[in-house]
Amino acid sequence: MLTGAGISAESGISTFRDSDGLWEQYKVEDVASIEGWYKNPALMTRFYNERRKQLLDVKPNEAHRILAELEKDFDVTVITQNVDNLHERAGSSKIVHLHGELMKVTSSLDPNNPNFIRMLGEDELEVQIGDKAADGSQVRPFIVWFGEAVPEIERAVILTSQADIYLVIGTSLNVYPAAGLLNYVPDEADIYLIDPKPVPWNSGKRFTHIMKGASEGMKELKQYLYKDE
Ligand code: OAD
Repeated sequence: MLTGAGISAESGISTFRDSDGLWEQYKVEDVASIEGWYKNPALMTRFYNERRKQLLDVKPNEAHRILAELEKDFDVTVITQNVDNLHERAGSSKIVHLHGELMKVTSSLDPNNPNFIRMLGEDELEVQIGDKAADGSQVRPFIVWFGEAVPEIERAVILTSQADIYLVIGTSLNVYPAAGLLNYVPDEADIYLIDPKPVPWNSGKRFTHIMKGASEGMKELKQYLYKDE
């Protein structure tokens, strides 16, 4: 399954492209591009410190919880574009974070080297300019920015190509390569989309659109998944 900002909206985290979204308040290139980091690492560090601290004030919602509960009856892998930790906190056990994780930092010289990726503790939410990674470079958020490769996409493609049921929740499908995953869903898989708005769907594959918010949509999805019982 593929999730986007919409699944965390009901927990109080803004989406990016809705009318009250983050990209109305900030310029993407200032806070979410590699050029932005080179230009103003202090601004980027502050922006992600704020977003990381927000995680203390939010909780997983019903949609995250239902997804985690589905593991009782299904082999569920969550591929998420979200950098929050709400899927983990709801209890999902297999999660691929395509765009990185707010609670991790890494080396600014070699960001995808596992030796330098570090989970922050709850008392380390504020990273400073001057904090060093294990290779001695400035610490940076472990976030995939525009202009950077998406190392987890290969794993996500393999997992997607093995799906019997594919669920897409709360993503505007604007950002590639994540949106391109739909091309790898097997033709015989059942595809469900949960989003209160129409979403540009370029894959040509048939899908069932549950036009609701994530929590209500997940309740309805359960009826489809358990219809034979
Ligand atoms: P977007 O903000 O582009 O899209 C959010 C989607 O969630 C839209 O289709 C909304 O209609 C839908 N939505 C809003 N409220 C919802 C609710 N209560 N329940 C379900 N759906 C709801 O967010 P993403 O598609 O996740 O990347 O954005 C993709 C990437 O763009 C992000 O990972 C981020 C951003 O730039 C980076 O920063 C690299």
